[in-house]
Parts: sequence; C-alpha cells; structure tokens
Amino acid sequence: MPAPNESLFKQYFTDFDGRFKGRLSHIRPTFAREAFRESAGVRAKHTGIIKVEYQKDLMGLLEEGMLLAVRNYKGLHQRRPRYTLLEVAAIWPSHFGLSGLSEESYYPLQFEIIQQSVEDWDATDTSTLMIRMSAIPINYDLSLDPEKGPSFDRGFSYPIPAEEAFILNRDLINLMYNKRVIERIGGVPAKTTSEARRDPRLGLLKMFEALQHDIPLYIDFERLVRYHFGLFSFTGGGKSNLASNIMRRLLYHTKDVKIVIFDIACEYPFLLLDVLSDPKIPAHVIFENRVADANQLVSSIVRPRDYEADPRVLAKLGGLVRRGILGHLVRRGVSAVHTYGSVLNDLEDLRGQSEGRPTYLNAIGLIEQQVNNYVAEHACSEDDTVAKEFVDFLDQTAHDAVERFRVSDKSQLWGWATTRAKAMQPSPTAEAAPPQPAKTDDGYTFEAIQHLIEGEDRLVCLSIADPSLIKMLVSRLTSQLLLARTKRFQVKPYILFVFDEAQEFIPQDPRGQDRTSSYHVERLLRQGRKYGLGACIATQRVAHLNTSCLQQLHTFFVGTLPRPYDRSVVSSTFLIDEGILEKTLEFGPGEWLLASYTATGMENVPIFLRADNAEKEIETFLAK
Ligand SMILES: Nc1ncnc2c1ncn2[C@@H]1O[C@H](COP(=O)(O)OP(=O)(O)OP(=O)(O)O)[C@@H](O)[C@H]1O
Ligand SMILES: [Mg+2]
Repeated sequence: MPAPNESLFKQYFTDFDGRFKGRLSHIRPTFAREAFRESAGVRAKHTGIIKVEYQKDLMGLLEEGMLLAVRNYKGLHQRRPRYTLLEVAAIWPSHFGLSGLSEESYYPLQFEIIQQSVEDWDATDTSTLMIRMSAIPINYDLSLDPEKGPSFDRGFSYPIPAEEAFILNRDLINLMYNKRVIERIGGVPAKTTSEARRDPRLGLLKMFEALQHDIPLYIDFERLVRYHFGLFSFTGGGKSNLASNIMRRLLYHTKDVKIVIFDIACEYPFLLLDVLSDPKIPAHVIFENRVADANQLVSSIVRPRDYEADPRVLAKLGGLVRRGILGHLVRRGVSAVHTYGSVLNDLEDLRGQSEGRPTYLNAIGLIEQQVNNYVAEHACSEDDTVAKEFVDFLDQTAHDAVERFRVSDKSQLWGWATTRAKAMQPSPTAEAAPPQPAKTDDGYTFEAIQHLIEGEDRLVCLSIADPSLIKMLVSRLTSQLLLARTKRFQVKPYILFVFDEAQEFIPQDPRGQDRTSSYHVERLLRQGRKYGLGACIATQRVAHLNTSCLQQLHTFFVGTLPRPYDRSVVSSTFLIDEGILEKTLEFGPGEWLLASYTATGMENVPIFLRADNAEKEIETFLAK
C-alpha cells in the first residue's frame, strides 16, 4: 500500500516538528435516532475518533477546524495515495489513571489521585496520557500525485481504521481554499496585509494562528454577491464591521459591483468613513432629515463608543459635508409599490383581523376571488405592478363587496375597500418615461435615489432610522430595480443590497407593512441572481428570519450564536454539522465560521476565520 514518501509528506502535511503522532482509532456512523431528533440541526453521518500521543506543547498547537487526512479503502488498489479528509471538531486530553476513577469513588481518594496527576500533565508521559480528537468527514478525498500535485474529489470514502492521521499543512490549505479563487479574482499581493486597498483578503485562517503562520483567505467576489450571503452572530459579534470590510474590498477590488445599504442603525457613514471620503469612489449618503454641517452630521450617525468624543471624527465628517455627497429624503414620491401579490397580501391581513365575523370574511373572500380572476384573465403575475384599469376594477369590486355584505363603515375593512383608487397610484411601468432625477437642493425623491443607483454611483447608503420609511424604500427600490433589469435583460453592473438588522425587513412572521418589505426582499433573493442583484443579510436572531429568504443564501458567516435554536436553524438550513457549529460559542468579535456553496475554494466545507478589523482602516484614515 502506498505511503506518502518523505518529500510528499513535507510538502503537504505537518507533524509540528515531530510532535504529532496520531491514528484513527475508529469511525462510527451517527445513528438515525441522533440525526433526526425533532427540531434538531444536522449531524455528519460519521464521526472519527483520533488518538494522539501526548506532547504537552501539542494542546496549544492543535485547533478545531484543522483538516486531517487518513488513508482510505478506495486508494488501496491505486498507485497514488488517496485520503479521506476530516475536520477536527473537538480536542481533549485524557489521563489513564483519571479515566479509571469513577464518580462514586471515595472523595478524598479522587482528590488524591487528581493531585498526583499534576506532574504527569507537565511531563510528556505517553504511557499515562493521550490526546483525543473527534473529527467529521468533509466529504472530499485527497489524492497526492508526485507529478501533478494534490487533487480533491467530492464524495465520502471510508477511511481505514488504525491508519495514521496526517495534518494538512499551511501550503496545502492555502492551495485548497485560495488557488482557484485567486485565479478568478485575478491576483493578490505577494505579501499579505490587512489593508483593504492593497489586499482583497477577508482575514486570516485561525488554523495555524498558534504558529503565527498567516494564511490569508480570499473569496470569489462575483459569486459572493450574486448568490447572496448572510452574517449571523450575537450582538457585538462584528457583523456590521465585517459587512463594511467586505464592501470596502468590493469597491477597491472589483470594477462592476455597486452597493446599496439599508442602514436602519445609521452606522455605516462612520464604518465606511474612509471610503465615503475617497474622491475616486462616486457615492451618496441619504439621511432622513437635512444635514447641513458636521455637527448635524455627528448627531445623525452612530459611532463605536471609543470614537464618540474623538475630535478627528468631527474634522473628517466636515470633509464629507464639503464633498457634497450628503442628501436627505424628500418624502414626496415615496409610496408603497402595489403589485397583484401585495393586494392579495393585504386581503390576507384583513382576513386575520376579521376572525369571528363571517360577513366580513365573505366580503374578503369575494374580493379575493375577483382579484384572482382578473390576474388569471389578464395573464398577470403576482409580482407585476398593478395596472391603472386594475385599480379602477378593484375599487369598484371592493366597494360593491363591502356594501353587499353590510360591512360596518367604521371598520378597517371598509376603510381599505373604499380608498383603493386614492391609495394606489399605479407606479410607472417600464414603458413609461424613465424616472427623472427630481433633485431639489440636497433633497432626493425616491426616483432621484433610483437614478443615483442606476447612474455613476458605486455606493449609496440610506441611513434612515424610521422603520416605516426605510421599509418603504426597501420595497420600492428592490422591486423597481428588479423590474428595470428584467425588462432590459441586464446583468451588469452587479448591485449588492445590504440589509443589516435584517430581522426588521424579513421577519419570520411578517404583519402589515413588514409583509410588503418581506415579500419584496424574498423576491429579490429568488430572482435577483439572474439579473446580477445580490443581497447581504445580517442579523443576530437567525431563527426569527423568513426561512425562504435564508434558503437562498449560498455563503454564510457564523459568529457566536448563544441560543441553541439559532444554531440548529443554521445547521439544518445550511447543512453544517452541529458539533462544528458549537465551536462558534468560543468565538470573540471578528471570529467567524465561513462556509459557501459557490464562493470559496471548497464547497460547503466550514473554515474558521479571523476577519480583519474595519476599525483599523478607520483608525489609519483618522490618523492621516
Ligand atoms: N474583525 C474584528 N476584529 C476585532 N474586533 C472586532 C472585529 N469586528 C468587530 N470587532 C469589535 O466588536 C465590536 C462590535 O462590532 P459590530 O458593531 O460590528 O457588531 P455587530 O455584530 O454588528 O453588533 P450588533 O448586533 O449590535 O449590530 C466593534 O466595535 C469592534 O470593537
Ligand atoms: Mg451591527
């Protein structure tokens, strides 16, 4: 049976200078009972247990997330060595004497034995001590060919028990995750740096941190944007920080990606201060109210506590005001988008409010039936914006229905049914004249904002704290931009829509206006990729999000999620082993588990990442 010769071993594996000697002790299937617990996340189908000779330095060097290679049965009859790859999920040391000690033993005896073992841990006594690791297959085989180098094949092959386990070294990891991505994004600097302008990396892999081996991680930006991505972590985990750093890199290292931020927390003018101050990047920030000078700007934005009293911030904000890229929203022209689907949604809401009133329910049923007939007869889709004659038709139908069923004129249903003509000004269709930039002074109407996005701007930040106003913008902008693209069959430039605090826009159980924004964001996620429209969804309560939206994300970053329910939603939606996800409980701010179906070098293989800190970019900028 072929073994890795010494030069292959040195090239692709590491034993930490002779310290690591481990073998696969056994591999066991995960039993169905465990795998299909009610409301549980997913577990890998097999778990391997690796036993490692004890070396006291090793515990500080081994990391969850490291990849191991164990020879497999498939390679038995091949000339090249072939290995099953496993990801380390847990590491723990054990002591022969202590493991024989039962909980029921006489307590002084337990203390005595524990105390006696102190010295053992410090020595390197392989006869009493051992390190154990559990590892799960990542469903890739590694083949090593002395001429062609390493190659990876998808699929699970049964590893041979008792075979030696090898740790993949930094060069092989770098090659696995970065080679193809670097080819696609077109080159990276020879010496990696956290400076966004010089290096498109997202951060460093945590795997070999203890050895201070910096392995940068690169991501395929085009696929990241087009196939949507999610950032999930508890509050303070670094979601906004990471989002801003991803945007920084998109702006510096891609040519045809534009960004629209729905910034309900008003924190991106600070988090992207350096980018917004860069005259080479056409950008605008739109606030809820007029911002005339740096002092007004300071009170309109949110900064991390350390920067609240920093005079340098005020000076740089003054620069932003002078750049002339700040504006405010002119509410005229901001109205909801009405589609056939949103009318049906309204009716569904009214039905919810009319429980126990059969006549009201009859009236609603009748209107709904007529709307459905109209949609079918005119071959419209629920996503289409309503036509003028539909509004007249609905107005008449709704009036007739509430009168026929004697709905009280003080009820909400009556109010809805009798105001349709007035409330539903049909939006301009694509055939109508293109929206004109109705810009007055520094006020921007909805059309003017759409014009900015479709024009030269690469970054449009909508820092609007009023939830109903920003939700209205979400609905209108996403639907109008999608409509414009579908009519023109346009894909580029890509537009990334960033939804931070996404639970505001796509809650799991939306009501009222939330239904409209949720409906439009879901549509963007479903249809956007065909037309180059992508989304970034960031939230702290992933379990409270619209599940259909979550299912559209192809890349996700997971930080600390303390609630088991959030973890099991992530695990079952994205098919990530729960044991691996538990590692995130130990994460500090800026540490992430990253997995992607499209944008990283390895399909859906979770990797642990320490993201670069956006505040460092701001700090450098403020110091200038
Ligand atoms: N990559 C990083 N490296 C170092 N520190 C970081 C990193 N990312 C975030 N932090 C720290 O964590 C703090 C919180 O980050 P951030 O505001 O981005 O969290 P968040 O997840 O968006 O929180 P919230 O849910 O409250 O919006 C930052 O002020 C920063 O000090
Ligand atoms: Mg945040």
